[in-house]
Amino acid sequence: MSEMIWLNGEILPMSEARIGVEDRGFQFADGVYEVVRLYNGKPFTLSEHLDRLERSCEGIRLKTALSKGDLTREIGRYLEKSPMREGMVYLQITRGAAPRNHIFADTKPTVLFYSRPLPTVPAAGSAEGLKLISQPDERWQRCWIKSIALLANVLAKNVAVAAGCDEAVFVEKGIVTECSASNFFAVAGGKVLTHPVGPKVLPGITRLVLMDICKQLDVPFVERQISEAECLAADEVFITSTTREIGWVAKWNDRKISNGQCGPITRKLHAAYQKLVAERTR
Ligand code: PDD
Repeated sequence: MSEMIWLNGEILPMSEARIGVEDRGFQFADGVYEVVRLYNGKPFTLSEHLDRLERSCEGIRLKTALSKGDLTREIGRYLEKSPMREGMVYLQITRGAAPRNHIFADTKPTVLFYSRPLPTVPAAGSAEGLKLISQPDERWQRCWIKSIALLANVLAKNVAVAAGCDEAVFVEKGIVTECSASNFFAVAGGKVLTHPVGPKVLPGITRLVLMDICKQLDVPFVERQISEAECLAADEVFITSTTREIGWVAKWNDRKISNGQCGPITRKLHAAYQKLVAERTR
């Protein structure tokens, strides 16, 4: 079956979808997005993703006629037609098309989403550990907005991959913020440490689920600034994202983390995460 896309209310083959050259998403990266994981054909934490989408839209002063309820219903209608079980939904809203001008015009937002298959994430600790590399954080001060303007992230990620790594860790004035496409966590003295969300850190939905899990399992979750030196000396390091879930880190800047083994707290948290996913998407 050919890949289908939902575009401004219509479901059509991807190859037939057209967006104007003067769409502000194309010319100004004037838009926001979400990535939602599909397990067993069901979107996981869709409500939380759509809440963040709403905050992102407000953050760039973008008004869309589609409510959270409309989007939920339309995503459901799209998924009903799709045989995909394991994958993700990519959803994007731009301010729409108008003759190129920095100033907002009375445009109709362009809304689209489509699904893509993704491999199942292996059970906690059984995958190979991730390799990280530090990169300067050259992004703007509104990283809480899930903006499609991702060039600084894209450049950092490509430096990481060219160096044989999986992810780039952003470091600003010696402080670790997050990664190019994931949140960052260090485990020290039995506590999970992470930078607070805000100007430099996206409020990740996986991070949100993790906070709940930590509460349930009585693992202290501490939001504070953490230095790169402190993180490099941590007992365990992991990253989170919708597509990776909780990914344990084996190496960072050529230094082994937790002796190159998946640490017990990361293992426990990922096992609990996968249990929760299985319960909610049965
Ligand atoms: N990225 N920080 C950044 C900069 C991200 O791009 C992402 C997600 C996260 C984790 O957020 P969440 O847990 O809600 O996925 C943190 C997505 C997956 C992407 O751009 O593909």
